[in-house]
Amino acid sequence: MSKQDELIKGLNEDLAAELGTVIRYTYQASKSFGVMGIELREMFEEETADELGHASFLMDAIVDLGGEPTTTPKEFDKPEGLKAMLELDLKMELEDIENYKKHAELAAELGLVGLQMHLEEMATDESGHAQDLRRLLKGL
Ligand SMILES: [Fe+2]
Ligand SMILES: [Fe+2]
Repeated sequence: MSKQDELIKGLNEDLAAELGTVIRYTYQASKSFGVMGIELREMFEEETADELGHASFLMDAIVDLGGEPTTTPKEFDKPEGLKAMLELDLKMELEDIENYKKHAELAAELGLVGLQMHLEEMATDESGHAQDLRRLLKGL
């Protein structure tokens, strides 16, 4: 597989993860109850907008590279209770960061500086999400 094809494949995995996150956060907002749930719903709404922006960027990037963007979201677990839910989200945000770092390096190897920087920016967004989740988890 060429490096370009490897990058397209990687970005499609990132895209499936983002689409899954949009659905997961929308679902989890509906399953957030109690006083803490009110705060969670707000956070999920805000972060869903970020993840949708990421998905949209990835679709364009994949098409630009000559690939076909996936429309199938990655499957996710549905744990019961706020704490288990947030722990899952934190784990998945951290995975996203690692994947964006890896694919930013691949983009750099191909001389795609704009793409590299944008992927690094998205890793930064996810690390902000991870920080929000850690703060919320400390209060549980
Ligand atoms: Fe994202
Ligand atoms: Fe995120």
